[in-house]
Amino acid sequence: MYAQLVETGATRLRAMEEMDPQERAFQSRVDDGIKIEAKDWMPEAYRKTLVRQISQHAHSEIVGQLPEGNWVTRAPTLERKAVLLAKIQDEAGHGLYLYSAAETLGVSRDQMLGDLHSGKAKYSSIFNYPTLSWADIGMIGWLVDGSAIINQVPLCRCSYGPYARAMVRVCKEESFHQRQGYDILLKLCNGTPEQKQMAQDALNRWWWPALMMFGPSDGDSPNSAQSMQWRIKLFSNDELRQKMVDQTVPQAEYLGLTIPDPKLKWNEERGHYDFGEIDWSEFYNVIQGNGPCNRDRLRTRVKAWDDGAWFRNALVAHADKQADKQAQQAAA
Ligand code: 3HC
Repeated sequence: MYAQLVETGATRLRAMEEMDPQERAFQSRVDDGIKIEAKDWMPEAYRKTLVRQISQHAHSEIVGQLPEGNWVTRAPTLERKAVLLAKIQDEAGHGLYLYSAAETLGVSRDQMLGDLHSGKAKYSSIFNYPTLSWADIGMIGWLVDGSAIINQVPLCRCSYGPYARAMVRVCKEESFHQRQGYDILLKLCNGTPEQKQMAQDALNRWWWPALMMFGPSDGDSPNSAQSMQWRIKLFSNDELRQKMVDQTVPQAEYLGLTIPDPKLKWNEERGHYDFGEIDWSEFYNVIQGNGPCNRDRLRTRVKAWDDGAWFRNALVAHADKQADKQAQQAAA
């Protein structure tokens, strides 16, 4: 669908001959797989797209800690608690890594966080759903981090150097996140009937929102065509979504869980699973701020920011004092 959009010109991309020499040289570098670095010339629209995507990616990592944090004190064993804490700490690190990558494009941390707190910037829709049982923590690892890996591995090869390099470490840690989630579900599915039912209930609630993580269908994606010409996006939303379905269905079968989609069926001819229609009204409702937990997530992030003001101010005061001291020593 995406490819047709570009062919029919429904998504207007400028051909090389329409570009000025500087932009043509830029596009040739991108086409040749040469990384664009922070100091290189880039079209302002390329920079803006990267700031939008990388900052929202970072917001997703930071907000993504909240649904999981809900279960740290309720983890069933000390070991599960330790593993969950390690995962949540990783996500914080991913967020900071990505904010740093975005800062190489000239945007400040305060600006990005201000956009998040004001509701102007997005973060992944998936984190606006509640975690109602311990099985949800398994689902987040297996489905959400599993989807994140599918979406993030190509980003390791994207055209912008700082983003691509940040993704390498993030993806390695995501593999641990997905494994620990699947391990939680293996335990539940091999446990009592009640535990298995808990896992099935969680799958029923998380399956479709996990498919929505990959974004609108290609025909409705305003950014994909340009992001693919700039090799920020190497695969379309629907291609990655299909990859997630194909990869996950056998794993669900191994767990003995039923995916809540009566239209899910292997299509030998396509070599993929056919699956039902996503409820796009739910997706757009959630990304417009009306999901089950949007307000709670934002309120929590704003409170954390406000509560940390004293610490930020103390750091700045200390840095200023150090700078004054060094200036006096230099003048002496
Ligand atoms: N949640 C919220 N907003 C979404 C979304 C989602 N799942 N999918 C798409 N959108 C938004 C886009 O941001 C865009 O809005 P904007 O122009 O105001 O930013 C609009 O919907 C149209 O979507 P497009 O597909 O045209 O936009 P993109 O080309 O930016 O593609 C994307 C969307 C696939 C999410 C892309 O931005 C991307 O790959 N981002 C990097 C990866 C990322 O952010 N993943 C989120 C999960 S991170 C995570 O899960 C952490 C893990 O450790 C748990």
